[in-house]
Amino acid sequence: MKVIHASLLIAAGLLCSGASLADEALAKAKGCLACHTVDKKLIGPTYKEVAQKYAGQKDAEAKLATTIVKGTPTPAGVGWQKEGKATLPFMPPNATVKPDEAAKLAKWILGLK
Ligand code: HEC
Repeated sequence: MKVIHASLLIAAGLLCSGASLADEALAKAKGCLACHTVDKKLIGPTYKEVAQKYAGQKDAEAKLATTIVKGTPTPAGVGWQKEGKATLPFMPPNATVKPDEAAKLAKWILGLK
């Protein structure tokens, strides 16, 4: 019984880390990681900073999913550059991202701590 228990736990652990790796791979495939990383400033804000900014907002996932596809308003953006957390004032649209992919990416980003 103990052996089964342990292997179930390991399997569950693998499933969890597998899911977040898959989301990061999607971000990479869609070119997001050319401008963002999880925790180092690049051209855009880090995903951890994005998660902090939207923490506790219940419509955040849907809102970010739309932003991910459409980008932020040109040329004013939503202000990450003014705060010194981005080097471009706005994010261009990411036209190759489908709505379900954007939802996955938004969920992944918001779950980062
Ligand atoms: C050309 C560089 C570039 C690419 C590619 C890019 N981003 Fe961004 N992203 C930015 C910049 C710059 C900002 C800050 C925009 C602002 O302040 O308006 C930003 C902001 C964001 C935000 C925060 C928006 C907000 O309302 O605060 C999210 C979420 C995000 N990007 C996700 C993504 C995802 C997911 C992808 C890939 C599909 C992606 N980005 C691709 C440059 C980029």
